[in-house]
Amino acid sequence: HRHLLGIRDLSPIDVELLLDRADAAVAVSRQSEKKKTTLRGRTQINLFYEASTRTQSSFELAGKRLGADVMNMSVASSSVKKGETLIDTAMTLNAMHPDILIIRHASAGAAALLAQKVGCSVVNAGDGAHEHPTQALLDALTIRREKGRLAGLTVAICGDILHSRVARSNILLLNAMGARVRAVAPSTLLPSGIAQMGVEVFPTMAEGLKDADVVMMLRLQRERMEGSFVPSIREYFRYFGLDAEKLKAAKPNALVMHPGPMNRGVEIASEIADGPQSVIQEQVEMGVAVRMAVMEALLDPRRNQDGGRA
Ligand code: CP
Repeated sequence: HRHLLGIRDLSPIDVELLLDRADAAVAVSRQSEKKKTTLRGRTQINLFYEASTRTQSSFELAGKRLGADVMNMSVASSSVKKGETLIDTAMTLNAMHPDILIIRHASAGAAALLAQKVGCSVVNAGDGAHEHPTQALLDALTIRREKGRLAGLTVAICGDILHSRVARSNILLLNAMGARVRAVAPSTLLPSGIAQMGVEVFPTMAEGLKDADVVMMLRLQRERMEGSFVPSIREYFRYFGLDAEKLKAAKPNALVMHPGPMNRGVEIASEIADGPQSVIQEQVEMGVAVRMAVMEALLDPRRNQDGGRA
């Protein structure tokens, strides 16, 4: 079975093919008749151990638009609450013969572990601070549709990179596709191996945003900061929150992105989130299309022209 566990599962050609498929899925999603039959008869289970608005709903819609039967496992009211382990839960669901399992979990490596145990395709919908590959793909699709390409663009990823699986997947994907990636954050919010990831690190927004084509803001993940460094909101916004003044350093037509959920007034000012350069709603739309493309590539044998990978 084929899986999408991280960006390293994909070659640059796989990424281009997936984005092409996703472009076609955008067109389908904009029609009044949105339903395809590619995954008719297939069963998709969404297993979300962490909260989600965008990812879970877009995987559900994507499956339904492809004609699959979609089941959302409600973890909060499941036997997980009685202490059932991830593997036992997965094996129980596996016995019902799903074709694809979508998992979000607080632990890095949870999706890869599951993929070894179950007899179906697995998609990582976010595992701890490790990866969120479909988010990076939808961000790439948004950028490619707006700018016409990824190669050669300067993308500034700003804020809480330390706790961000979105940042990690984006760094891997954008680097592989030939973009120049910058990390803009206080040193306390950078992972220790950041310099080895092929990004240029900037300690201030003024330096990091200079002439950027894309400014990607990240949520300050205070729930993952245990006791150590929890910045004050006022101070964080002053130095690292995106406002009109800081955005002036980027190119005049720079895209403003945020994976959501946003903390308005913490990492991004409302006037910027809702402003003319923001493509945050487009990112959400691209999320459904990219997830359609990924599931189609993993499950539809007629469309595996890319060597059997996603
Ligand atoms: N961007 C993202 O993963 O959002 P959710 O947590 O709402 O799914």
